[in-house]
Amino acid sequence: MTDVKRIAVIAGDGIGPEVVAEAIKVMKRTEELFNYKFEFEFGLFGGIAIDETGTPLPEATLDMCKRADSVLLGAVGGPKWDNNSKELRPETGLLGIRKALGLFSNIRPAVVFDCLKDASTLKPEVLEGTDLIVVRELTGGIYFGEKFRREGERGQEAVDTCVYNVEEVERIVRQGFEVAQKRRKKLASVDKANVLETSRLWRETVNRIAPEYPDVELEHVLVDNCAMQLLRRPASFDVIVTENMFGDILSDEAAMLTGSIGMLSSASLGEGSFGLYEPVHGSAPDIAGQGIANPIATILSVALMFRLTFGYEDAANAIEAAVKQVLDAGHRTGDIAVDRSQAIGTEQMGNLIVAALSEQVVSA
Ligand code: IPM
Ligand code: MG
Repeated sequence: MTDVKRIAVIAGDGIGPEVVAEAIKVMKRTEELFNYKFEFEFGLFGGIAIDETGTPLPEATLDMCKRADSVLLGAVGGPKWDNNSKELRPETGLLGIRKALGLFSNIRPAVVFDCLKDASTLKPEVLEGTDLIVVRELTGGIYFGEKFRREGERGQEAVDTCVYNVEEVERIVRQGFEVAQKRRKKLASVDKANVLETSRLWRETVNRIAPEYPDVELEHVLVDNCAMQLLRRPASFDVIVTENMFGDILSDEAAMLTGSIGMLSSASLGEGSFGLYEPVHGSAPDIAGQGIANPIATILSVALMFRLTFGYEDAANAIEAAVKQVLDAGHRTGDIAVDRSQAIGTEQMGNLIVAALSEQVVSA
């Protein structure tokens, strides 16, 4: 009997529903091509959930995710909710779902596709061969530390605390070493150990467990220097492991190496095989509803889901090859087009990838 995989789908806000629709098409085609069986369940989350239920992360959605084998998320947020109080912000829902599902590890690959080298603002020769992964700690640090306001001697003060315990550091650092072991075996551990106590604990922990991974070449890089080196020698990085906020910032920077944030997928993982998969880009309210968003990041997130949660390596490779085939043939959405007048829409891009996927599998 075919193994049925339950996929919780959260389309979210802005371009979320448009790009998710294309990713679902891709998954449905893999059911036919690879004899998989998926059961999709749909839930509200983010701004649309605030509008319809009064909270960004309804219990029903969280329960749906807990029942599922994996989650596909589109994007959340938009100007409509930007001035809401903290409880009624889509971002609060995002942090809440990460925490509630125990997704402490965020994997963000940044790969420069050869045919898109010219789409980046950096010189093509600097980008040549760039293929890195940021492994970001996702449920600790300053994002989740105590936050408050108080009256100080000079008026109001705001406090955000950054806390990490050894266990939190250890599990993400191990994840970094393990990801590196499966790749080019180079790990850059990024911290601010010359200033921050949490970073000193981080570095001590990395050094303590590094001998368990003798095949991985380790370098410690201070976060400011890392920001610089990413622009200077991006191709020399393999895996970067870092804490929550540094990872937030560096993964956006890494994204821009590739030319478009519309290309980048991500996985958020916990202890088991369960994972939440989402494009790195946001809800892009400025182009929502126009059918011009790039669905590739979401489609590549499906490939990551297949590989990391389901172990469907062949289908993951086929999806990635299909994306490459379509790009090599010159098809572009507006965000990556050199000549915008030639750009195709979200649906067209999805259809081309679905067609290429069939060809990839038939010719394999
Ligand atoms: C991200 C986003 C989120 C984060 C925001 C929307 C809360 O920037 O996933 O990188 O900071 O983690
Ligand atoms: Mg971010």
